[in-house]
Amino acid sequence: MISTEAAKELNFHLNAELYSSYLYLSMSAYASHKGWKGAANWLYVQAQEEIIHVQKVYAYIEDQDARVILEAIEKPESDFGGMLELFEAVLEHERHVTARIRELMTHALAENDHATETFLQWFVTEQTEEEKTCKEVIDRLKLAGDTGLAIFMVDNELGARVLPAVTV
Ligand code: FEO
Repeated sequence: MISTEAAKELNFHLNAELYSSYLYLSMSAYASHKGWKGAANWLYVQAQEEIIHVQKVYAYIEDQDARVILEAIEKPESDFGGMLELFEAVLEHERHVTARIRELMTHALAENDHATETFLQWFVTEQTEEEKTCKEVIDRLKLAGDTGLAIFMVDNELGARVLPAVTV
C-alpha cells in the first residue's frame, strides 16, 4: 500500500506519460507530413514506448491497491520546425520527464516508501537511455549538416528503429 499523496503523484505522472505518447504521435504525424518517413517511424516507436511507461505506472498504482484516476491530456504542439529542431524538442521533453522522475523519487525517499523507490529505479535507468538515444540523433543531424542529402541519410537510419520486446 502507498500513501494517498504517493498515489496522487503517480497518477499525475501517468498523465505525463500519456502526454508524452500524445506529443510523440503528433511529432510523428508532423514528420510524416514533411516526408521524413524514417523520423516518423522513430517517433511512432517512441510514442509506443511511452504507452509501455503508462502501462507500468498504471499497473503499479493498482498493485498498490490505489486507484487510477485519469485526467484530460493536454493538446500537443503540431509544428516543430526542421528535423534538428524536432529532435531538440524531443530531448527537451525527455529532460523534463527526467526532472519529474527525480521529483517522484525525492517524494518516495521522503516517505521511506521503498516499494515506490524500487519501482522508480526502472524509470531512472530508462530516462538516461532515452536522453542518450535522442542526443545521438541530434549529434548525427549536426554532423550531417543541413542539406537535403544529409537529412535523407539520417532519416534512412531513423527508419530502422523497432519497438523492443518488453514486459510490463
Ligand atoms: Fe516515458 Fe520518454 O519518458
